[in-house]
Amino acid sequence: MGFPKKFLWGGATAANQYEGAYNVDGRGLANVDLLPTGEDRRAVVFGEKKMFNFEDGYFYPAQNAIDGYHRYKEDIALFAEMGFKTYRMSISWTRIFPKGDETEPNEKGLQYYEDVFKECQKYGIEPLVTISHFDTPMYLVEKYGSWRNRKMVDFFENYCRTVFTRYKGLVKYWLVFNEINMMLHASFMAAGLYVEDLEEKEAKRVKFQAAHHELVANALAVKLAHEIDPENQVGCMLAGGKHYPYSCDPEDVIFSLLRDREDYFFSDVQARGEYPTYMLKKFENEGIDVRFEEGDTELLKENTVDFISFSYYLTRIGTVNPKAAEETTGNIFNSVKNPYLPSSEWGWQIDPVGLRVTLIELYDRYQKPLFVVENGLGASDTPDENGYIEDDYRIEYMANHIKEMKKAIDIDGVPVMGYTMWGCIDIVSAGSGEMKKRYGFIYVDRDNEGNGTLQRTKKKSFDWYKHVIETNGEELD
Ligand code: BG6
Repeated sequence: MGFPKKFLWGGATAANQYEGAYNVDGRGLANVDLLPTGEDRRAVVFGEKKMFNFEDGYFYPAQNAIDGYHRYKEDIALFAEMGFKTYRMSISWTRIFPKGDETEPNEKGLQYYEDVFKECQKYGIEPLVTISHFDTPMYLVEKYGSWRNRKMVDFFENYCRTVFTRYKGLVKYWLVFNEINMMLHASFMAAGLYVEDLEEKEAKRVKFQAAHHELVANALAVKLAHEIDPENQVGCMLAGGKHYPYSCDPEDVIFSLLRDREDYFFSDVQARGEYPTYMLKKFENEGIDVRFEEGDTELLKENTVDFISFSYYLTRIGTVNPKAAEETTGNIFNSVKNPYLPSSEWGWQIDPVGLRVTLIELYDRYQKPLFVVENGLGASDTPDENGYIEDDYRIEYMANHIKEMKKAIDIDGVPVMGYTMWGCIDIVSAGSGEMKKRYGFIYVDRDNEGNGTLQRTKKKSFDWYKHVIETNGEELD
């Protein structure tokens, strides 16, 4: 009973939200560098407003983020003090290939991550590495139109081969694309796709063609990872959290089921190796022409992922009832309000049981090991007069989620490999660009405008999580 002995407890960050140093040591510009704070961020994230360069009058938080590029040793030491077994982080593509289409990589970028992985190794921390956490080289966006272009598959393959080869023996757990299902929605942030200049039907086709290219690239990454080092384990990564029907009206039920399928489309292909019939029907019914090249079908079939990973923050509500649909909550993605659940300051509905529901549903669907690679509470922590943060709300949030994950293991028989809490150190928010939306066990002195000393301070939850790991999840209160 309880968490497996080798359960991978840890925390997660992403390069563009953590590293800063956006133009240091030869790094090229990426789409995620160009997400400003403020009103226009949402439009840029969704691929509605074009922002292909820095513009006056905007603040771009990823440029400096929390300067993890220069402070990773201090941060990894703190993770080690908490007892992390794993650290989920991502490689910035443009540190390795600044433009994206070069054949030779940037040695300084490669060396940087080698140093980071060796630092993890020093403490016995297993890196869990996302190859693309929302980042696409801007050069590829401008020259090739990003993932709508089949050439992206080759560039990405080269990038994958380079990192699998260089980090053989240092990294064995890989995730290919972060929250791959987000590319259909937050298309510029997730895939460097700008579609505003297209009419609706064409924009949809472009997104699905880009999705196909990412799915092919994912299969190639799995293939290469296994060929280069049979020890490698590769996971897909899905933005999780299902739609509950608002009522038992069968129309609400079917509506919610169909909404979930839009998300499962990606993991269905990545885990089962073929396009689900519901998606092929959709293409046929809506006249969406997605081009497959020769060999794609076999490639997808033969190179499915080893495990399923996902982020879990909330559940959503599906309804056809216009009155019910009026009351919404959430920041970047609005959802109908669930009257049974409280919400975070940013309107994200807090639903620990939903994590158990998600685990059961994903395991029933795929029968592959699961990994919870993001979960956490974004809150505006306020230090007391001594600079200390008593984040009992975060402890409560996490304890309740971990309890439900334990039930999924003990009662429902779901194999869970690990849990990496999101934003284990305060970083820039992906959705809002704010620093104020903090998730960490470690406070970072930096505000929304980029002011602050960047000093790191332990919050109350730091010691709490340390104890959780020490007791392998047995003592949560
Ligand atoms: C996930 C992303 O969508 O949610 C992360 O993978 C992101 O990059 C996290 O930071 C939390 O969202 P936000 O908008 O609160 O930062």
